[in-house]
Amino acid sequence: MTYADRFPALLEKATTIIASQDGRDEKLMQICELLHGEVPHYDWVGFYLVDPDAERELVLGPYVGAPTEHTRIPFGKGICGQAADTETTFIIQDVAQESNYLSCSPDVRAEIVVPVMRESIVLGELDIDSHALAPFSREDRLFLEAVCVAVASLL
Ligand code: SME
Repeated sequence: MTYADRFPALLEKATTIIASQDGRDEKLMQICELLHGEVPHYDWVGFYLVDPDAERELVLGPYVGAPTEHTRIPFGKGICGQAADTETTFIIQDVAQESNYLSCSPDVRAEIVVPVMRESIVLGELDIDSHALAPFSREDRLFLEAVCVAVASLL
């Protein structure tokens, strides 16, 4: 049994959270807690949301992990801004090799950012940092993209 064997059950739990009566940010926080608590190499888990009142800018939403100074990120800047700009998943297995990167903590070695899209419009993204080097598999990507498809109904 590997960590990825639990992804179907975690996706089901995320879907249950999304269908609950709680408020949007409570649900997003519960999803962060679920992913952070259940997947050992997810050390910082958070959502950035596209700010409807700003020009192509992300604002930090619910997250679990160390506080970050990067509470607002313009499209194109850092891994988060690049994922929003290109509307594609970014997987950086070694952040030391990435020049367009915003560091939150020297402990972070790798990062995955998955856009949350609805009708071809980017609404936000799920950002996960890992303290492990090259920890993200194809299964992580498929799982997190499925979580973001489900989360799109909330944003
Ligand atoms: N590392 C990100 C910034 C956000 S933190 O990971 C929380 C980036 O390069 O966009």
